[in-house]
Amino acid sequence: MVITVSNQKGGVGKTTTSAALAAGFSMAGKKVLCIDLDPQGNLGFCLGLDTEGGSTILDVLKGDISIQKAISRTEGIDILPSDITLSSSGLEYNPGEEKESILKNVLKPVMDFYDYIVIDTPPALNLLTVNAYAVSDYLIIPMASDILSLVGLSQLKETVESVRIQINPGLKIMGILLNRFNPRTCLCRDVLEMAGQLAGQLETRVFDTKIRSGVAIAEAPAHGESIFEYSPRASAVKDYGKFLDEVEKIIGFREK
Ligand SMILES: Nc1ncnc2c1ncn2[C@@H]1O[C@H](COP(=O)(O)OP(=O)(O)O)[C@@H](O)[C@H]1O
Ligand SMILES: [Mg+2]
Repeated sequence: MVITVSNQKGGVGKTTTSAALAAGFSMAGKKVLCIDLDPQGNLGFCLGLDTEGGSTILDVLKGDISIQKAISRTEGIDILPSDITLSSSGLEYNPGEEKESILKNVLKPVMDFYDYIVIDTPPALNLLTVNAYAVSDYLIIPMASDILSLVGLSQLKETVESVRIQINPGLKIMGILLNRFNPRTCLCRDVLEMAGQLAGQLETRVFDTKIRSGVAIAEAPAHGESIFEYSPRASAVKDYGKFLDEVEKIIGFREK
């Protein structure tokens, strides 16, 4: 199963959520591959990968190296990292191939090997994002819990719809995840109402679990640990644990 974490806005928790999902799947004993499609390359760092000089997803997309050779292995989680050289133009190299399906095609040889593939995306809706949507079973959309962050998601809806029509009719949106949700400080009722409306437009749900702010979330990557290892008792980390329980109810990754 392929799950993409996406929102064209930056700083909303895409990378954090991707790493938390990967850690959760891995802790459940599943084989996990993470793919970083963001040229900022933060996901590798979040997963404790020493990125210097290794192969990246771009080398694979360009056809310069086989996917098996490009995958880096960290404890429990495999990763295809990215770096600053990644751009949508990296997908223009393969003439004769549908450019929206390049990622899907390069993933074919490893698809059956992994139980879960988690894709982190750039803060954009570009060809890289479309390639991720084209190969995904589910999207998860993290959002910052303020009104302005909730505005302007109509483009995402259009992108999802066009991908469904043209390439991947099975693409589902698992839900909207409200991040940095602080009952005491935010305009909670407004945010919840607006997120609910958005979810309605996207024909999905707002996850019951809201992720509170917590320094542990920001600190964990620098320690090379998942948030669950770094600070299991921090409230924001517990929130991510509950979020994983919700994901479990939807896709049943702890079964078998
Ligand atoms: N709930 C949270 N509490 C505290 N810091 C957070 C939280 N969620 C994300 N962050 C921090 O905010 C920054 C942006 O999050 P990130 O996951 O990288 O967003 P994106 O990938 O959407 O740009 C990171 O430094 C991250 O550690
Ligand atoms: Mg990111």
